[in-house]
Amino acid sequence: MQESECVFIQQGYDSLAKQFAQLHILEVGLGTGLNCLLTLKRSILWKNNVHYTAIEPYPLSTEEWGSLNYPHVISGQHTNESFSLIHNSEFGKEIALTSNFKLIKYHDTIQAVDLPDEMYHLVYFDAFGPQVQPELWTLDVFEKVARSMQTGGVLVTYSAKGSVKRALKACGFVLEHPAGPPGKREMTRAVKGS
Ligand SMILES: C[S@@+](CC[C@H](N)C(=O)[O-])C[C@H]1O[C@@H](n2cnc3c(N)ncnc32)[C@H](O)[C@@H]1O
Repeated sequence: MQESECVFIQQGYDSLAKQFAQLHILEVGLGTGLNCLLTLKRSILWKNNVHYTAIEPYPLSTEEWGSLNYPHVISGQHTNESFSLIHNSEFGKEIALTSNFKLIKYHDTIQAVDLPDEMYHLVYFDAFGPQVQPELWTLDVFEKVARSMQTGGVLVTYSAKGSVKRALKACGFVLEHPAGPPGKREMTRAVKGS
C-alpha cells in the first residue's frame, strides 16, 4: 500500500489532478485492484472525472480477492461495493464506480491489447519487475504505451533499472527519478515529450 501511494498516487495521480478535470488513466496489471481503489478515493477528494482502463491477463479468483482486507483498511463510503465491482465487472464493458469514475478492464496482455492513440494522461506501469517479466519492459511495449499517451502525459513505475531507463528514453520520454517508497532509493516518472 505504501508503494502504491508513493509511486502511483503521489508521483502519478496527485501530480496531474489539479491540471486536468478529466483524466484518462491506463493501468498495466490490475492485479488486486489496489491502485484502482486508491485512485477512486483520490478522484473523490480532487473531484476529477476519471476514465480508468485496466489490463490484466490473469485475473484474481473470487477467493483471492475476497480474502484481501483493502475495504477495511481503506476507509470510505462505498469502498466495499467498489472493490467488489472492480473485480466482478465484465471485461470489455465500461462500468461506473461512481458518477465520476468509469472503469473498463481488458482480459488481455499489454502486448496484445488494442490501445487508442494519444488518449492517456497517466499510465500506471505496474507489471512484475524486469527481472521477473523482461518481455514487458521492452522498447516495443514502451513504444506502444507511448503512442497511446497524450503529449505531456506521465508514466510512473517503481523500476529505475538502467535498461528500463534507456528503453523509456529511446521512446522519447523525459525521465525524472523521485525518491521511491521506503526501501527504494528512486522510482521513475517518465513524461512523454512532443
Ligand atoms: C505487480 S502486479 C500488479 C498489482 C496491481 N497494480 C495492484 O494494484 O494490485 C503485476 C500484474 O501484472 C499482470 N501481468 C502479467 N503479465 C502481464 C501482461 N503481459 N500484460 C499486462 N499485465 C500483466 C499480473 O497478472 C499482475 O496482476
